[in-house]
Amino acid sequence: MTDLTGVSASGGGTGTVQTSGPVLLEAIDLHKSFGSTTALTSASMRLRAGEVVAVMGPSGSGKSTFLHCLAGIVPPDAGIVRYRGRDLGGMSDRVRSQLRRTDFGFVFQFGQLVPELTCLENVALPLRLGGVRRRAAEQKATAWLERLEVAGVANKRPGETSGGEGQRVAVARALVTGPTVVFADEPTGALDSLNGERVLQLFVTAARDTGAAVVLVTHEPRVAAYSDREVVVRDGRTRDLEVAR
Ligand SMILES: Nc1ncnc2c1ncn2[C@@H]1O[C@H](COP(=O)(O)OP(=O)(O)OP(=O)(O)O)[C@@H](O)[C@H]1O
Ligand SMILES: [Mg+2]
Repeated sequence: MTDLTGVSASGGGTGTVQTSGPVLLEAIDLHKSFGSTTALTSASMRLRAGEVVAVMGPSGSGKSTFLHCLAGIVPPDAGIVRYRGRDLGGMSDRVRSQLRRTDFGFVFQFGQLVPELTCLENVALPLRLGGVRRRAAEQKATAWLERLEVAGVANKRPGETSGGEGQRVAVARALVTGPTVVFADEPTGALDSLNGERVLQLFVTAARDTGAAVVLVTHEPRVAAYSDREVVVRDGRTRDLEVAR
């Protein structure tokens, strides 16, 4: 029997299951509707430092909405999201945006890189926005592109890369600032399985190396194999049994 802390008996799996340590992020009983459509009816989870959690469930079940609420992008209608014990709903927009920049990283299905910038500039951008000088930012960005095995696209624009390369660049951009949590919504959903597998391997390995926790939304069981734990969303409700791997 597990509870919402996800602190359950565990073993096996592909990595270290974090069963102790501080709770970084906590969602309690989130509700969210868009007009007459209810996206979340009761969604809860806890994320500990360094933990990789796969959020699974069928299309339309509320996964993306849940992720957006967890990341402070969308406010829930009811329920609480706490990051390091602080209620995101109680923060000003400015403080919340600042938090997203300093502590969170994001990878979406189609990368969402800035098309006018080179891949190197895209990866350097979050550092530049944080006040890092160009040279230092680009050095760091270069190291991250190398780590994701896409140094060769540094001077290309995103439109000149393959889907897999673009997603690696997006992963580099998400990790370059050393976030404590990376939110990924179907990060390999647009890639073929071989490419997707490699991007995931690189992503999860790099996140584990840097100690970043990951919330990985997917409906592919194959993707979830890279996680420590799964949270299943169905009809806007998280299953109260969080399955430990
Ligand atoms: N901005 C919005 N406006 C209106 N309805 C929305 C909005 N965002 C989500 N919904 C609805 O909320 C429900 C949950 O959507 P959500 O995008 O969270 O599902 P999902 O599990 O991520 O699906 P998928 O696997 O297809 O990405 C769906 O019925 C969807 O149509
Ligand atoms: Mg979605």
